[in-house]
Amino acid sequence: MKLIYQYMLCFLLVVTTCLAVTAVAIYHYTEDLAYRHTLTELEGYSDNLQKQALKIDPATGNIKNITAESLDLLQQTLANDRIAIDLFDPDGYRLYPQPRGDKDQRPAFSPKILKRLQDGEVIYSRNGQKNRPQGLKTQDPTTYVVKPWFNRDQQLKAIIYLGMPCVSINTSMQNVRRKLLITFLISAIIAIVMSWFLANFQVRKIERLQKATKQIKHGNFKVEVQQTGNDEISDLAADFNEMAHSLQLSNEEIQRQERQNKEFMMNASHEMRTPLTTINGLLEGLAYDAIPKNLRAHSIDLMRDETKRLIRLVNDNLDYEKIRTNQLPLNQTEFDAVQPLSNVVSQLQASAKEAKNQLQLQLPPKLPVYADYDRFIQIIFNIVQNAIQFTHQGKILIDGQRLPKEAATVITIKDNGIGMTPAQLQNIWVRYYKADPSRKSTKYSESGLGLAIVHQLMEQHHDEIAVTSHFHQGTTFKLTFYDAAVIQKRQSSPR
Ligand SMILES: Nc1ncnc2c1ncn2[C@@H]1O[C@H](COP(=O)(O)OP(=O)(O)O)[C@@H](O)[C@H]1O
Ligand SMILES: [Mg+2]
Repeated sequence: MKLIYQYMLCFLLVVTTCLAVTAVAIYHYTEDLAYRHTLTELEGYSDNLQKQALKIDPATGNIKNITAESLDLLQQTLANDRIAIDLFDPDGYRLYPQPRGDKDQRPAFSPKILKRLQDGEVIYSRNGQKNRPQGLKTQDPTTYVVKPWFNRDQQLKAIIYLGMPCVSINTSMQNVRRKLLITFLISAIIAIVMSWFLANFQVRKIERLQKATKQIKHGNFKVEVQQTGNDEISDLAADFNEMAHSLQLSNEEIQRQERQNKEFMMNASHEMRTPLTTINGLLEGLAYDAIPKNLRAHSIDLMRDETKRLIRLVNDNLDYEKIRTNQLPLNQTEFDAVQPLSNVVSQLQASAKEAKNQLQLQLPPKLPVYADYDRFIQIIFNIVQNAIQFTHQGKILIDGQRLPKEAATVITIKDNGIGMTPAQLQNIWVRYYKADPSRKSTKYSESGLGLAIVHQLMEQHHDEIAVTSHFHQGTTFKLTFYDAAVIQKRQSSPR
């Protein structure tokens, strides 16, 4: 069943149940009221009669004012209401209307009822046959009061019966029933219309969610479900929006990774194609004796260089992947960085000189660093090598400083070389990125992998690397190596 009908059915059930209960309650209350009213009315007539009746004739000692004629008159007055009056003597023998006069007239009440009446009890009946006096004119269900009349000396003087056929009450109750039924029907129609509006309002909220879900199914994650009100469906809409947002983010991430993979494949192929083409050309030259004898040794040297470059490329790539996938476990220890830094500088001094660069080291006597020793050298080597590569007739300064407050050692490598534009700076950690792809040198590892590896290594160490650069002015790399205690804290709280 459609949700809208389910909702409508629920609303209708609740409303009609309430209406039905109310109607039944009203009906019973009205009926009760009608009976009570009738009984009170009947008793009222009886009391009035009694007031007149109990004026006892002092001479005879009998009821003075009540005569068959006066009762007939009263009976006629009450005929409209179909009220019947019967009068009995204290022993239950009929006095009015017209006693039969014969001797075998029997008391109208059973001895038990008579005893109760003689004891002063008034007998009420709503529509019963029970306790009814015998010999009444009508046998129809009647609402009646049977009341004993006592004089001032508490002597039972007469018993009066006042009855009204239930038909009168039933007719008015029928009226009430009809009115209640009409009210019920009108209310039910209003309830149907209102429940349709209410159900529609609820269902529309769900439909909005349904529409949004379909959009997501078709790959449109930029959907936002309107939130109305403060209910569970609105909460669901908020959660849905959040879900759509994270789906969009992960979709973007997937697309970015796909792009990166594509770029990586293209770059890797491109990087390999250059040395392979060189080797292939030289091999063919050798095979067809196209290279003069005196140049053959040089050709072979060239091929060796290109092969080495290929091997380096493959190794760098493997290194990067291993670091990225945490397959290269670090052996972090605390050591004095003065010696390894001096070693790197002396290793690179020759190439610095070649580029007419000054390479300077500025260190305190001791410089404790917590890192993987070999990886530390690899990081510094890569950065200093880049600095030499991108500086001509300039100065490269390696500076080491201890920051006791931060529990860290900071090493900065500053050059006044070609520098980078902000756009170039943005990409330097990306694999195969080269600010100037036309520049090519086999002397250095010009694969565009160096800084990508450095960045991965620093991340794996839970240390920090930052770079500032100004085009044509120079570049500064700042490496912060934290002490063991800080690193442990950083490891346990993911960044
Ligand atoms: N000190 C520097 N000065 C200017 N540019 C630099 C410096 N270091 C790195 N770069 C830029 O960052 C790029 C990426 O460096 P790197 O990852 O080491 O690759 P590669 O050295 O193989 O080109 C370089 O091609 C260069 O454009
Ligand atoms: Mg490099």
